[in-house]
Amino acid sequence: MVILTPGPTEIPNEVLASMLKSVNPDLDQGFFNLYNELAGSIKKMINHDGSIYVMSGEGMLGLEAAIANTVKRDDKVLSISNGVFGESFADLARGYGAQVTTVNGPYDEPVDASKMPDLRNYRAVTFVYVETPAGLINPIGDVAKVVKQSDALFIVDAVSAVGGVPVDCKSLGVDICLMASQKAFSSTPGLAIVAVSDRAKAEMKRVNYGGYYMNINKWDENLGKGMFPYTPSANDILALKTAIDMIYAEGLESVYRRHEESRNATISALKSMGIVPFVKDIKYAAPTVTAFYSPLDPMLLLDFTWKKLGVMLAGSWGPLAGKVMRIGHMGYTARKDFVIQAIAALAAAMNNYGSRVDIESAVRAANREFSSPA
Ligand SMILES: Cc1ncc(COP(=O)(O)O)c(C=O)c1O
Repeated sequence: MVILTPGPTEIPNEVLASMLKSVNPDLDQGFFNLYNELAGSIKKMINHDGSIYVMSGEGMLGLEAAIANTVKRDDKVLSISNGVFGESFADLARGYGAQVTTVNGPYDEPVDASKMPDLRNYRAVTFVYVETPAGLINPIGDVAKVVKQSDALFIVDAVSAVGGVPVDCKSLGVDICLMASQKAFSSTPGLAIVAVSDRAKAEMKRVNYGGYYMNINKWDENLGKGMFPYTPSANDILALKTAIDMIYAEGLESVYRRHEESRNATISALKSMGIVPFVKDIKYAAPTVTAFYSPLDPMLLLDFTWKKLGVMLAGSWGPLAGKVMRIGHMGYTARKDFVIQAIAALAAAMNNYGSRVDIESAVRAANREFSSPA
C-alpha cells in the first residue's frame, strides 16, 4: 500500500519510529530544547528572521491563527484568490470581520500581480504559494514586489511548498509563513507551523486577539518562560524533527531537484498517455503535486488504484471535484520509484476500463526526466 496523494504523504519509517517514545513535553527540559532546535531548522529552511510556533492542529489552524492575530473588525485585507485555498483564506478573513477585496483569476493560471490594487490602508495581503487542488504554483516574486511597496503584512500559505520548493521569506518580505507537517515534510498530520516576523508580532500586540488557543502573544509569554502555553503534541513534534533532520541530511538542493524532476516526469508520462495536465504552462505547475483532467470518471480510477493495486491517488476539491485528479510527488514521495508506481497504477486503471495505454512508454517517459537512479 502506498499513499501518493498531495498530503498526507507516505511517511518514512525513520520518522514513524522516532515518535514511538513516552515523553512529557511540559516537564522535560530536553523536549523544550528539541522544540527550539526544530524551530531553528525551520527558520533556516525558509530564511525567516522571526519566531516559529508549532501548534497542535493541522494546516488550517495556522491560516486561522494568522488572521485571528493580525486582523481586527473592518481592517482591509487583500486576498489573492485564484484557487480553492485562496478563496478559503478570503472567507476566513471575512469571518473575522475584515473588509476583504479579492484578486481572482482562473484556477489554472498564475495570478496576475498587476491586478492588485493600491495597498495603502490595507492591513494584510493573503497569498497561497502552491494551490494544491489545482497543482498551481503562483508567482510569489511578482506579488511580493507589490506588497513590499506598502505597509501591509504579507501572509503566505506555503503549506504545499515548504520542504519541496525553496521559500526565501527574508528576500520576499514574507511576514507570516504557514506550513503543515503532513505535506512536503512527510511527517504525521497534526501540526500547523507558523513563522511570524517581528513586524507582524508588533501588529499582534496592537490587535490583542482575545482567544487563547491560537494566541501568539500568549505563546510568546510562555515560550519566554521556557514552557508551552498548553501540552503540545509531543510525538508529532518528535516525528517532524526527524523528518526535517532527514531533509537536511540529504541536502536542500537535492530535495528541491527531486521535486522538479518528479513534476517533469509526471507531466511527461501523463502527456504520453494522452492526458492533459490542468496547468498548461509547466513553469506554473507545482513541483509538489500534479493535477490533470481525469480521462475517465475519477471515482472509478481512484477506487481501482487503491482497492485493487494499493496505490492511493487523489481527486480534487471545489469546482475541480469530479473532473480533476492529482498525483502527489511531495516530500518523501518526490522520487522516481513512487512517480513510476503512480503512473503505472493510473495506466493500469485506465486499461481496466477499456483504454489502451502503453504502460511501458509512459514509464519510459517518466524515467527520462530523472537524473538520479532512485
Ligand atoms: C494550500 C493549502 N493550504 C491549507 C491547507 C489546509 O491544511 P489542512 O488540511 O492540514 O488543514 C491545505 C490542505 O490541503 C493546502 O493544500
